[in-house]
Amino acid sequence: MSGKHYFSIVAFVICGLAVAVVARPRSESNGLTADSSAQQIAQGEKLYESRCGICHAAPNNTGSLMLARRLGKDRSLLAQRTDLKADYIRKVSRVGIGSMPPLTRIEVPDSELDLIVAYLTRPESARAAEKSRSSGAAHE
Ligand code: HEC
Repeated sequence: MSGKHYFSIVAFVICGLAVAVVARPRSESNGLTADSSAQQIAQGEKLYESRCGICHAAPNNTGSLMLARRLGKDRSLLAQRTDLKADYIRKVSRVGIGSMPPLTRIEVPDSELDLIVAYLTRPESARAAEKSRSSGAAHE
């Protein structure tokens, strides 16, 4: 192989790596890549319902009742909150808070917690899509 040819292959590989790094933006809030987030949010919603829903899904679940008492009704349903930060959700889930018990990595592995966090910190665009879906369903 000629030196020049070798050089162009190396340059090609380096360019490819640079493009791959630039083209995969990581969302600052949850550490997940932006391109597959819609799917991750949908998975996170299901996991949230099965892992956290027993205390947080409905207004009369323990978690919602305790949060309504501490923070007010407007902030009692986690899935409707837009002020929750990824780090806070992770910390509360692992350490617990008030009467919420800590959840172990056996109960909720990190990979699941990441998806739950992606759902709870989903962007406004995803929330708008949910609203139009549910109002559409109401008319059926
Ligand atoms: C066994 C019931 C229970 C389960 C399961 C549970 N929580 Fe909680 N959670 C609570 C209670 C109760 C509170 C309110 C604690 C307080 O304020 O005293 C709470 C509070 C929180 C808060 C604090 C909100 C704030 O603004 O301070 C976050 C965040 C939270 N839970 C996330 C989760 C997530 C995520 C899951 C699932 C991975 C989960 N919880 C599962 C009972 C639960």
